[in-house]
Amino acid sequence: MCGIVGYVGSNEAADFLLEGLRRLEYRGYDSSGVVTAQDGTIDVKKTAGRVESLSQLLKTSPARGGVGIGHTRWATHGPATDENAHPHLGGDQIVALVHNGVIENYRGLKEKLLERGYEFCSDTDSEVVAHLLAYELRNLSDDVNESIDPYAPLIVAVQNMLTQLQGTYGLAMVFRDWPEVIVTARLGSPLVLGVGDGENFIASDGSPLAGRTEKIVYLADHEIAIVTADTIRVIHRDQGDVRHDIKVLDIEAADIDLGRFDHYMLKEIFEQPETVRNALRGRLDRDEATAVFGGLNLSAQQLQSVQRFVLTACGTSWHSALVGEYMIENLARIPVEVEYASELRYRNPPLSTGTLLFALTQSGETIDTLAALREMKRKGHPTMSICNVVGSTIAREADGGIYLHAGPEIGVASTKAFTAQCVVMSLLALYFGRLHHLSYEAGLHIIDDLEKLPEQVETALATHDRVRQIAEKYADRNNFLYLGRQYNFPAALEGALKLKEISYVHAEGYPAAEMKHGPIALVDEQTPSVFIVPQSAVYDKVLANLEEIKARGGPVIAVVDDEDSRVTEVADDVIVVPAVSDFLQPIVASVPLQMLAYHIALIRGCDVDKPRNLAKSVTVE
Ligand code: G6P
Repeated sequence: MCGIVGYVGSNEAADFLLEGLRRLEYRGYDSSGVVTAQDGTIDVKKTAGRVESLSQLLKTSPARGGVGIGHTRWATHGPATDENAHPHLGGDQIVALVHNGVIENYRGLKEKLLERGYEFCSDTDSEVVAHLLAYELRNLSDDVNESIDPYAPLIVAVQNMLTQLQGTYGLAMVFRDWPEVIVTARLGSPLVLGVGDGENFIASDGSPLAGRTEKIVYLADHEIAIVTADTIRVIHRDQGDVRHDIKVLDIEAADIDLGRFDHYMLKEIFEQPETVRNALRGRLDRDEATAVFGGLNLSAQQLQSVQRFVLTACGTSWHSALVGEYMIENLARIPVEVEYASELRYRNPPLSTGTLLFALTQSGETIDTLAALREMKRKGHPTMSICNVVGSTIAREADGGIYLHAGPEIGVASTKAFTAQCVVMSLLALYFGRLHHLSYEAGLHIIDDLEKLPEQVETALATHDRVRQIAEKYADRNNFLYLGRQYNFPAALEGALKLKEISYVHAEGYPAAEMKHGPIALVDEQTPSVFIVPQSAVYDKVLANLEEIKARGGPVIAVVDDEDSRVTEVADDVIVVPAVSDFLQPIVASVPLQMLAYHIALIRGCDVDKPRNLAKSVTVE
């Protein structure tokens, strides 16, 4: 959701800005723009539509200069038009800025600025910030001493402006009269700085920096950075200069290449044997028949006394939390509650001591998940993150956590992060199981199962051609049901979500038996039901549900783990995945469902990696 890039150095800023914006396209956006500062002018180029349109615009009308910022906008205040695209100019074009986040009090601020004679060209809250900054710059008090610190006027103006904002922001600003500098500020919307040699970079996440520099600085909330080609200075909004740590960027340029694939989603689906392996790497201890984690940061006594888990997340991550609920309750016998983060943050549930919160999030930036984590922290509960993006806000704010190590996930529809999260959930179930009742032998069985998993995921990928044929058969249908029970109920939810997200086809996931209580009314010849029905304790029950659908003329696509099962006789189309222990079934079964959604979307002509209206990382409430 919205992306920011910035460049200060001796090269043309626009080159990095365009490339950086392309790398941020995956976050979801509907317009884009850049501004460069040079020779006493600031030059804005922006347009509704894809970065490709901006690239065309820059070909006919280049933006020159070694200092510039760029933005991809995901509309919140006002539609996706050229005027609402960022950057926004402030005052008589003395400043320009790009903004991620939402300024909640923008109406009041706008009224005051209108009274002061400022004119607005857009509907955005961000233009208000630009004019407010210009106003503060014009109305500095006399004691701001430029001879001691040449950037004192900028810093004071930015600080004065920020103290008036309510809401969230990641801001990058350029100034007509200080054309060698970019100022950034962050509260609630991520910003990172890339440290180069005679050049520095700014971005809303690490992906634009890959291949440019390996040195990254994560800005924290309330920090302001003053960035020139050779210097980075970080100031706390209220406390003055602070030390900034330079960390190593964990993304390589190859990680964000498409390679032999047409889409990131397909590439990421096919990476899953490796990402499952990476999520397990170094975390299985055969001697103790348990899992090991480096980053839980809890004492042995705290771990032993965990009496309840709350798992919170949004979207696909919420589905892996549901998988985790089944795993932890069954294997570790500890009660688990799964909460939508957007609900948990306002629900104020009574939670006893001994409650451990896990926030599951691919990006580590989802605002609702962050807010839920902060709320739980405030109430004194230990908080953990299960996160893919190293250095992300949630990973840093949680007391401890587990990284997925799945590499950058660029397709908006989450795939490899989902399966990696499920793997981490199984490791947690093993770990806490072994702290309580799970025997050494049972622990070893789980380890055996987990060690085989990467290869089984590989085998599940071999269904690709079969899945493509099934997609061709059903791609014109407008309603799908996804049904599964127990461990495979969350897999059904996730299968349905994948289809919805990228093909814009209505799909509902349900526990198979619950289907009788409503969704069965939807069943007809045009409505396929996707059953996840590997061998399990509830196999016969699910088979009965399947027969009920068939009896009403509904076509059935079945994901099974036994070619000769009774399901294959009844179902119209069958996808055979490897047989695995029940707790790992949702991981293996999800692979063909991801591919099914991919191919249906492709056949329907949808933009698989950048589905309409969606954003990869949702940083507004
Ligand atoms: C957005 C994305 C989903 C994702 C959800 C949670 O809605 O489109 O694919 O599952 O956010 O994201 P997170 O980064 O917290 O896992």
